Amino acid sequence: EDALFPHKPLSGRHVLVTAGPTHEPIDPVRFIANHSSGKQGYAIAAACAQLGAQVTLVSGPTSLPCPDGVTRVDVTTAVEMLAACEAALPADCAICAAAVGDWRVADTASQKRKKEGGAPPKLTLVENPDILATLSQPGALRPSLVIGFAAETETLEAHAIAKKRRKGCDWMLANDVGTGTNVFGGDQNRVLFLDGDTIEPWSAMAKTDIARSLAARIAARFSSSPR
Ligand code: CTP
Ligand code: CA
Repeated sequence: EDALFPHKPLSGRHVLVTAGPTHEPIDPVRFIANHSSGKQGYAIAAACAQLGAQVTLVSGPTSLPCPDGVTRVDVTTAVEMLAACEAALPADCAICAAAVGDWRVADTASQKRKKEGGAPPKLTLVENPDILATLSQPGALRPSLVIGFAAETETLEAHAIAKKRRKGCDWMLANDVGTGTNVFGGDQNRVLFLDGDTIEPWSAMAKTDIARSLAARIAARFSSSPR
């Protein structure tokens, strides 16, 4: 197939991508979110589709259009994102680019919370499921290649190495999202690429170029394995 379609090296592969933020409700009109635009994840989904992959994009709330040739599943919360990912399996490759909310509100109110003249309400938070770690767990449905991102604001390399080990994923792209980097919402990104024990600093480039480089790596990784 590769010989016949050299420009579609991911044909016959199913790639699962998570992207965007999650919204964790406080009450019917308020939520906890983050600054993720979804741009990096959407660019990865588009790049994999361009290489011929069947792509499922599980997306939190963003303002981006669904890339050509990509099947998008819209979700709001982390719990919904995990369920949508599990429903999308099996996949050959999973790429977790979403900025998943780490916590959700324990006692979500069914009606709008009112000020009522008293003290501000106290929110009790509970930890959300870790989608990347869950997809990385050994098992029959584990994608053979699981890729995560690490968003850090300090000691990027050490944090990324530890995070990759903790999650159990195969590759990790670590980016500095500290103040002034303008990664959230911006079009540029700069990552460290971790595979096994090797760490490769990629030069700063457009998110679309990071996506194309990553898709090419994925294609190379799968080039010799049977479909
Ligand atoms: N991730 C996930 N599910 C979560 C939290 C994170 O799938 N509940 C994924 C992200 O999509 C990313 C990777 O895990 O690929 C790392 O996310 P990050 O927020 O950097 O790491 P955390 O493990 O949440 O650690 P912390 O935020 O405390 O640094
Ligand atoms: Ca986190």
